[in-house]
Order: sequence, then structure tokens, then C-alpha cells
Amino acid sequence: MMESKETVVINQVSFNLDELEKDCWNRLVNGAIKSRDAFHTPCVGSISKGELSMRTVVLRKALPLERELRFHTDIRSRKWEELSLNNSISALFYDVSARIQLRVKGKAILHFNDEITLEAWQKTSLSSRRCYLTLYPPSSFSDIPTSGLSEDIEQEKFTLEESECGQQHFGIVDIQVESIDWLWLNHAGHRRAYFDYMSGVYKWMVP
Ligand SMILES: Cc1cc2nc3c(=O)[nH]c(=O)nc-3n(C[C@H](O)[C@H](O)[C@H](O)COP(=O)(O)O)c2cc1C
Repeated sequence: MMESKETVVINQVSFNLDELEKDCWNRLVNGAIKSRDAFHTPCVGSISKGELSMRTVVLRKALPLERELRFHTDIRSRKWEELSLNNSISALFYDVSARIQLRVKGKAILHFNDEITLEAWQKTSLSSRRCYLTLYPPSSFSDIPTSGLSEDIEQEKFTLEESECGQQHFGIVDIQVESIDWLWLNHAGHRRAYFDYMSGVYKWMVP
């Protein structure tokens, strides 16, 4: 397959800008669905008192039509407070086997104690619910190395009913995606594209 002036050919598939933008979302959807996918655990950045703050999260959902990405978190965490004060957010993905990087920027929408969180909480496994059952908030200092959980909870010796109190700490962060910066590493020359949803402009870029 030949590369035309307007397309890029990856693994013998040709993509123009519109097709490439769709491919980004296919990859994000796969990342949300498949736990072993390289896009399953992006690095998410926020701003804390003018300083950068980054962490890995699990991508729970990618909605191409809504242009939304989602992850779960403890509402007592620093990121929750940071995002409540400044909703600018970015997510960084890199698939080493595809050699594709996505740099996503957008605005965070925080969900707590609403229908969306209730539905997601009900689907959250016992094992995952443990994250929301620490006595003290995430980032609290401790004199000893600790999970912050009681031994029983740590060893999953608790019932679904007993886990329900974790719901008060359970929050969802939706990223309303405003732009995607796509980069493909290729020995014959890298390729880069920018999808700006705010202006509706899709452009090739010099990598
Ligand atoms: C593979 C991996 C997945 C993680 N997934 C999440 C997640 O989905 N949500 C979350 O709040 N923290 C997750 N964490 C922990 C965060 O990276 C971070 O350490 C924690 O949330 C505290 O971040 P904060 O102080 O910025 O709020 C994950 C860490 C790793 C290594």
C-alpha cells in the first residue's frame, strides 16, 4: 500500500486524518475494555497549585461519540481536590508494540453520588472496592508501611454488604476530550497529527 500525500500507511492500512481520528478512538475503546492493552493504564496529569501532578490510572471507559474518557478514584485523593479546583486534565498513552503515543487534553467532569457513580459502584468487584475502604485518606502519612486497610479487608474477608461504606469515597472522573495529539514512531520517518475538537481542525504536524 502506497502512502499518498494525504494518508499514512500503518501495517498496510491507509489512514487519512478522519480515519486516523477514528483509529485513535478504536484504540482508546480497546484500552478501556482489555486489561492487558497498552492503553489500559494511561498517565493522567493535573495541576496542583501551579505545579504538575501525574499518576497512572485504569482507563474504565472510552466513548467516541461523546469524546469522553473515564477513570475511577477516591474522592479523598489529592487529584480529586486538584481537579475540583482546576479542571484542566491531560492523559498520556503509549503503545510500545504499535509505537503510537496519544496525548489527550480536556476538561475533567467529576461525578460523585449520582446515577453514574451508583451504577459503576454496583459493578465494582469486592477486590476493587478495597481501594475505597481505607480508614484514612490516600496520601495520609503513616509510621509503618501499610495498605491502610484492616487485615480482614486486605485479605478480602468481608461481605459485599460490608463493602458498601466504600461508596461514600467512590468518585468518577470523566475527561471531556478537547484535543488529541497522535504520534507514530516509524524508522522511515515518524508521523504526527493533531485533532482539535474545539475548532474542528485536523492537521498533520512535523513530529
Ligand atoms: C497500574 C496502576 C493503576 C492505577 N489505577 C488507579 C485508578 O484507576 N484510580 C486511582 O485513583 N488511582 C490509581 N492508581 C494509583 C495512582 O497512580 C496514584 O498513586 C493514587 O491514585 C494517588 O494519586 P493522587 O495523590 O494524585 O491522587 C493506579 C496506579 C497504578 C500503578
